[in-house]
Amino acid sequence: MRFMSDYRIAVLPGDGTGKEVAVEAMRILNTVQEHTNHGFEQTIIPCGGEHYLNTGEEWAEGSFEFCRDEADAIFLGAIGHPGAVLPNGDLAGGSVILGMRSGFDLYANVRPIKLYEGVPHKVHGKFTQIWEPGMVDMTVLRENTEGLYHSLLRRSADRASGRDPYEPVEMKFPGLEGEIAYDPRPISQKGSERLIRMGFEIAETRNGAPGDGEKRVSCIDKSNVLRGCQLFRKTFDQVATSYPNTSLDYGYIDAFTQWITRNPEHYDVVVTPNMFGDIATDLGAVLQGGMGMAASANIGDSQAFFEPVHGSAPKYAGLNKVNPIASINSIQMMLDWLGRKQGNDDLLMISSLIDQSVADHLKDGRLLTYDLGGDAGCSHVGESVAARLGEKLSQL
Ligand code: IPM
Ligand code: MN
Repeated sequence: MRFMSDYRIAVLPGDGTGKEVAVEAMRILNTVQEHTNHGFEQTIIPCGGEHYLNTGEEWAEGSFEFCRDEADAIFLGAIGHPGAVLPNGDLAGGSVILGMRSGFDLYANVRPIKLYEGVPHKVHGKFTQIWEPGMVDMTVLRENTEGLYHSLLRRSADRASGRDPYEPVEMKFPGLEGEIAYDPRPISQKGSERLIRMGFEIAETRNGAPGDGEKRVSCIDKSNVLRGCQLFRKTFDQVATSYPNTSLDYGYIDAFTQWITRNPEHYDVVVTPNMFGDIATDLGAVLQGGMGMAASANIGDSQAFFEPVHGSAPKYAGLNKVNPIASINSIQMMLDWLGRKQGNDDLLMISSLIDQSVADHLKDGRLLTYDLGGDAGCSHVGESVAARLGEKLSQL
């Protein structure tokens, strides 16, 4: 056997530009395979909204089980195609992204927000810089299986695994008349606890908030108004007692949107319920140079999938235009996760070399995609980062 360890990676390119950035994600895995004794057997699974329009299925039967049981880790490009809606009104392709989040119980959506040197943030003007790059470096943990998404997540997972579709109990709303649509927002103690605990554990591995070096976990909720958020905050306080050396911080989601824009250096790790995390991390992406820079990991106790935060960007599809860094950094997160899970320091080291290759590439500044002020293509950036990585790996 050529490889000391072999990993089976499921690659789900999905829709639109997801297909292009998946190629760059695979290029990074191939580069690692070429220069080390770690092999990555990649299985490409066509899926998504466009696939649904063409074939009548969101992905081939057995894909959910393959990803759950056979793959060591999963990469997802993007889901979403114009006009691709299921007969029940749900997002076509939802079985893939939401089905895996709920069906594999991937309770933590981990979204680092970091401004690299050479990258202009996008708070005002087009390509301006008001912070030192090091001043934006936080990790947001979005709860990923409950909250406002709960019903849709459950429906998607049931569809993906062939169970009868879940429908929430009928609720009554006195005082409202006519047609009513609603999404229950259940938040559980158990679901909150495991997410918050992971937040405190991640804080242990980081260097603290950029502003003052303090290890800090911020609980962002709307507990002045919502019961689910009151439970989330109560659980935060319970979990925090196990981490006496970590600073605690609290904020309401509405105020938080101001504070991360005005004082991003205050934040180290942020924990927040599902929909708030969805919204806040798109805002957070602005602080790190845009959606093309935003990577993420959907993590549970046994399985995980890694995806750029951005969508399928249909208007750019097929143009070799979008920024692949979010996908490359998602692969960096994949190897970090695999390394920690398997106690393999080698993978952790390779993961940090991917990060360094990205940092070097961005600092060099010669090959940037349009969103960062350049005119390089998606594949040119991917090739350049892979070449830098190959160089670093060959010197080991
Ligand atoms: C995200 C996306 C998804 C979400 C969509 C595609 C269902 O916006 O990953 O943030 O809402 O969670
Ligand atoms: Mn989103």
